[in-house]
Amino acid sequence: GFAQNEVTLDASQAKTQINRQIYGHFAEHLGACIYGGLYVGENNTKIPNINGARKDVIEALKKMKIPNLRWPGGCFADTYHWKDGIGSKKQRPSIVNAWWGGVTEDNSFGTHDFLNLCKELGTEPYLAGNVGSGTVKELSDWVQYVNHNGVSPMANLRKENGQDKAWGVKFWGVGNEAWGCGGNMKAEYYANIYRQYATFMTDWDNGSKLFRIASGANSKDYNWTEVLMRDIPHHMLEGIALHHYSVINWDKKGPAANFTEEHYFKTMQQALFMDELIQKHTAIMDKYDPKKKVALVVDEWGGWYEVEQGTNPGFLYQQNTMRDAVLAGATLNIFHKHSERVRMANLAQIVNVLQAVVLTKEEKMILTPTYHVMEMYNVHQDATNIPVEIKSNDYVFGTEKLPAVSVSASKDQAGVVHISLTNIDINKGQEISINLKGITAKAVTGRVLTSAKVQDHNTFDNPEKVKPTTFTGASISGGTLKVKLPATSVVVLELK
Ligand code: AHR
Repeated sequence: GFAQNEVTLDASQAKTQINRQIYGHFAEHLGACIYGGLYVGENNTKIPNINGARKDVIEALKKMKIPNLRWPGGCFADTYHWKDGIGSKKQRPSIVNAWWGGVTEDNSFGTHDFLNLCKELGTEPYLAGNVGSGTVKELSDWVQYVNHNGVSPMANLRKENGQDKAWGVKFWGVGNEAWGCGGNMKAEYYANIYRQYATFMTDWDNGSKLFRIASGANSKDYNWTEVLMRDIPHHMLEGIALHHYSVINWDKKGPAANFTEEHYFKTMQQALFMDELIQKHTAIMDKYDPKKKVALVVDEWGGWYEVEQGTNPGFLYQQNTMRDAVLAGATLNIFHKHSERVRMANLAQIVNVLQAVVLTKEEKMILTPTYHVMEMYNVHQDATNIPVEIKSNDYVFGTEKLPAVSVSASKDQAGVVHISLTNIDINKGQEISINLKGITAKAVTGRVLTSAKVQDHNTFDNPEKVKPTTFTGASISGGTLKVKLPATSVVVLELK
């Protein structure tokens, strides 16, 4: 049966842009994200590549539309010395990846490789600087190396290494998880460190001012946000980060694919908690910055489960199911709702790590359910958010419940309205009656991502088990749109 839900969209109240940067991704030197996933080396004759970067992955990511990519970490960023990753690949020193599996890397994927890959992808790079074990000079030099077009020691070095023109990188992270792997600092101490590092990050002549992002709170550590907003002058702060993973229990994360309904319910509780989390961090930011000049950057989010059996526990390789698809859909709807303050976000991580959009196995590649959601939702990038009111039915599990339905909507530059809906209830379909205020539309089309079981996923042997299909469950009459959402589904509609 279908449960009843009511939604109102008011297009006359649409004013905030959904910054396309909230559709960003994250690539860390971790497991097979970089080596094997994005990069296979320029001498690889088995896997087609452009300067060492996998062609199949590049094509898939371009189709999905990826506005920004954060690199090289994560925890790895605070161990990374960028000068070890430039110049002749034969002469580069190695680095032991101390956080992730203790593997020795040859530094063959460095600054040039990453920034040229971003060019190829049509994506904006977001570089995370080393604050935990680096120096002010090292980060200041990195900014000069990638952004200075004039004559300077670092610009000259870049030219010697074959790159004449500066790349003009706008987004910079000043450390990562400074409260943890980035140095185990206290908020007050990090605020001072941030001020020092940010002082020497120069806006070179690349035409755009740097967008500096302070290492932000671990989930509900509201005090962290409070101290940073209070102690860092806002003229030197463009964004403040927030990390939140949908993890059931750090000591018992549960399997990625063979999970129970209880696992599923708890994951979704964590995922939907993002709404409250953003509201509360935003309230603190509003107190110090009522004009919302400083962005909230959710630069790590996603589902985190146990690694696949037989894989290195330090590589964080996990399958990706319909659970991840509804998690992504519901989270993006939350970001849309808070688009005034949340102006960038990065799903962790892009290939082969955590909630990846792409998985690879030697020359094979598959797209995950999360990929399909990110691709279906890309119509919202840079569109204007239409406020939504929802009276949702509950998804009940035991004595607990969550709202089953989540909805967001936007109007793009051509005036076309898109509505995205998720039903996290794995047992019941939802009938939704949507009151369209200020929208004149006669026809509706759409796509749906769903599957018989929430555990369903794609494999290298069955790569298209979960993929979007044409949606026929919507009809429009007068000012009302009626939608029949199947259980465990993500739908994107277009009104004409
Ligand atoms: O994404 C994996 C890790 O999670 C990152 O390296 C770190 O920032 C976070 O704790």
